[in-house]
Amino acid sequence: MLIARHYKLRFFAAFLSISAEGLAYAADPAKGSELYALHCATCHGVSGVSMMPGAPNFSKNEGLMSPDGALLISIQSGKAAMPAYRGILSPQDILDVISYLRTLN
Ligand code: HEC
Repeated sequence: MLIARHYKLRFFAAFLSISAEGLAYAADPAKGSELYALHCATCHGVSGVSMMPGAPNFSKNEGLMSPDGALLISIQSGKAAMPAYRGILSPQDILDVISYLRTLN
């Protein structure tokens, strides 16, 4: 009886930690929009209409075909004229921005 209860509690604790992780990784497009205005709009434009030749136009869904994980890596490492954001934005910040980019088309 006691052993069964112990396992039940452990199961519950594992469930709680998985839920907390899920919450931590849920992207926030509202926060992403603020970060976008600060860090990205100079090239990609205020509402995703590109300001710079060669920069994808997010309002036309350009540059967004890859999954979030691949875009995260491009933004962290930089690509062509785009600077690297590793150390400037956290992975969570970048995922917030990506979720905002996906609202622009
Ligand atoms: C100095 C101008 C500049 C800034 C600032 C900039 N970008 Fe870019 N970005 C570019 C250019 C140019 C490309 C196209 C790179 C290439 O040749 O594939 C690009 C590409 C991308 C892509 C497509 C990546 C891919 O894998 O194809 C995404 C997504 C993106 N930028 C998001 C962002 C975000 C989010 C920010 C702000 C955190 C940002 N960019 C800031 C110029 C910029």
